[in-house]
Amino acid sequence: MSTSNSVLFLLRDNVFHSGEELSGLLGISRSAVWKAIKSLRVKGLDIHSIRGKGYRLPREVELLDEDIIRGAIPANLRDKFQIHTYFELSSTNTHLLQYIQNFSDGDKSQVCISEYQTHGRGRRGRVWYSPFAANLYLSMSWRHRQSPQGVSGFSLVTALALAKSLENLGVKDIELKWPNDVLWKRKKLAGILLELTGEAHGDQLLIVGIGVNVDMPEHSEANINQPFTDLRNATGTRVSRNKLSAEFLVQIAKYFHIYETNGMGSLLPEWFSRDSFLHKNVELIFPNQTIRGTVAGIDEQGSLLLDLIDGSRRAFQSGEISLRACS
Ligand code: BTN
Repeated sequence: MSTSNSVLFLLRDNVFHSGEELSGLLGISRSAVWKAIKSLRVKGLDIHSIRGKGYRLPREVELLDEDIIRGAIPANLRDKFQIHTYFELSSTNTHLLQYIQNFSDGDKSQVCISEYQTHGRGRRGRVWYSPFAANLYLSMSWRHRQSPQGVSGFSLVTALALAKSLENLGVKDIELKWPNDVLWKRKKLAGILLELTGEAHGDQLLIVGIGVNVDMPEHSEANINQPFTDLRNATGTRVSRNKLSAEFLVQIAKYFHIYETNGMGSLLPEWFSRDSFLHKNVELIFPNQTIRGTVAGIDEQGSLLLDLIDGSRRAFQSGEISLRACS
């Protein structure tokens, strides 16, 4: 464990710890403690300091714990996943994409979860702000055995599984925005990045990355350029990232199984019940044009259906939805 992670481990209890105590416990100098505090702050941790008392986190921090996550997954599903937790990665998606071949049990779904991402990636080349020990940054691999179901549907199905897992942990009023944003009161609560790593023995290997805002540090607005919220706001409580990871893995196994066996059809009613923009007048934004219409839902391929002003209905595989002011 690096020095700053050892300092964080001692500070996780929301009690003041003096610089002297930390340096004594870790066998390092006071200035090394100070450097560690500085580097944790740079990574997004709100560490309070009071002269004479020392350092304290504003709230207790539950660090990621592979054993707790595994223990919270029912025995019949546990062995489907191999879970790896990290203090720091560039991006959990990138890590899986690079190292998937090296993981020992290729048949299991490999799951990487990190406390911090130095280069968290969002859709469309955006940055995904990933402050330390605040949110959930999880990626998993999924071997898509040959079936008629298209790869694009997986991202919508991931959004459904994530919405269900949040609901099972007590989060109410979760809505979805096509293709795969998870919203609470029209603000972004979670995002999904799905990537394809090619084929192995005729199967397709997917990397599914989810970023869930759990407990954003104060002043995060400076780092995010869209309306966002977090689970602390949505529930008034602190949601456990370990429990959320386990619940998500349980739901994703169920939902992917339904999708691979039956296609999107049986999941459409659930999508419609959660669709934040259904029947709303929107603009669908492309790099070179904007199309206006009314959202009529999605089809069995997961494409967005828009009723256009000329009365026609068109299906779109890409584009960014934006609500029109008058709807
Ligand atoms: C979006 O733009 O809405 C998608 C955000 C996806 C973020 C997650 S965090 C875990 C995984 N690793 C990444 O670098 N990105 C995804």
